[in-house]
Amino acid sequence: MSQNPHQNSGHRQNAIVTIARKVHFSSGHRYFNSRLSDEENKKIFGKHYSTHGHGHNFTLEGYFNGPINPESGLVINLIEIDQLLKKVSDPFDHHFINTDVPYFKDVVPTTENIATYLYKELKKELKNPGVQLLKVRLYEGDTFWVDVQ
Ligand code: NI
Repeated sequence: MSQNPHQNSGHRQNAIVTIARKVHFSSGHRYFNSRLSDEENKKIFGKHYSTHGHGHNFTLEGYFNGPINPESGLVINLIEIDQLLKKVSDPFDHHFINTDVPYFKDVVPTTENIATYLYKELKKELKNPGVQLLKVRLYEGDTFWVDVQ
């Protein structure tokens, strides 16, 4: 009996699917590099160099890649994704990032740096072997966002 060479490459089983989920958090921060003078800080960061900081509503999106599990029809359970996103974003929520998130004691908490940090934390926490973190997108408000992959 000849075997159909396409039998095991059905799109349902082998397609890699991307799923995405978002969480919101609110944080305060201040753009400030302690290795630079006040004048240099003001020149680089403008009004983000605000002595007492300012706040943003952030939206963190995680994009995950994997095959669909034929039994569940899922790439990964959303509960698992929600726990991951909450775990990495909770230390930021209602906190002042410069002082409350240890990593940012000496790192300027720009959206770029926060997104990269969250990407690395998510990657560390994702222990599901069938799923890969494809991308993190971090929105600062509605009009600015950063992708890390
Ligand atoms: Ni800001």
